Amino acid sequence: MSTQNTLTCESQLVDKLRWRYATKKFDSNKKIKSEVWNQIEEALLLTPSSFGLQPWTFVVVTNPELKSKLPQFSWNQQQPQECSHLVVFARPDKIDEAYVANYIERIAEVRGVSADSLSTYKKMMTDFVKGATEEKLAEWMSRQCYIALGNLMTVAAAVGLDACPMEGFSSPDYDRILGLTEKGLRSVVVCPLGYRAEDDKYAQAAKVRFPKEKVILHI
Ligand SMILES: Cc1cc2nc3c(=O)[nH]c(=O)nc-3n(C[C@H](O)[C@H](O)[C@H](O)COP(=O)(O)O)c2cc1C
Repeated sequence: MSTQNTLTCESQLVDKLRWRYATKKFDSNKKIKSEVWNQIEEALLLTPSSFGLQPWTFVVVTNPELKSKLPQFSWNQQQPQECSHLVVFARPDKIDEAYVANYIERIAEVRGVSADSLSTYKKMMTDFVKGATEEKLAEWMSRQCYIALGNLMTVAAAVGLDACPMEGFSSPDYDRILGLTEKGLRSVVVCPLGYRAEDDKYAQAAKVRFPKEKVILHI
């Protein structure tokens, strides 16, 4: 019984992954309902990260005026304006000992343990953030944001939302327009979500992937 359910569920998910595509044109009249959007926010929250440090803020942009300013800083791509909700994955501009201490306090609070009992874990993370260059840490934080992006895209497809992961944008301009710089944030990657326009021809295009035997190596 449970095996049967698992298989059904898996094939439904893979079907959804075949259904999704990087949406080039959204129907700007269709908005995501809050009960659907709430699932997306929960999925973002549940994204795993290295050490569990969650070096991210998910900035949700729905304000039409703000969205209208974005295509000119997105290689003229219209999705950030035409979508229902735009998620900007932002990292902190720096991660330091204080950030780690705050995370330790959060673990202690959620799990009902003393911060002292977490001292070994704290030292490991503190050594990590103190031992790496700013550049290395920025790259590491960005990688965590991409895990959240992947998680978001899968869950979006599962609940029937269209999405387009996007690196084609100017991070400094987004930071300025959305007021992220003064919040100590740096945009990393963005993802407009909503519903595909009926005339988006990319929806019909065959998926281009390398053959399975070239991509998956069994050893
Ligand atoms: C990190 C990342 C950045 C991307 N940036 C853009 C982008 O700026 N504009 C765009 O139209 N598509 C963008 N894409 C979409 C890819 O071109 C697309 O996912 C890929 O060709 C596979 O097609 P599919 O998603 O439709 O299956 C991006 C995809 C990823 C994963």
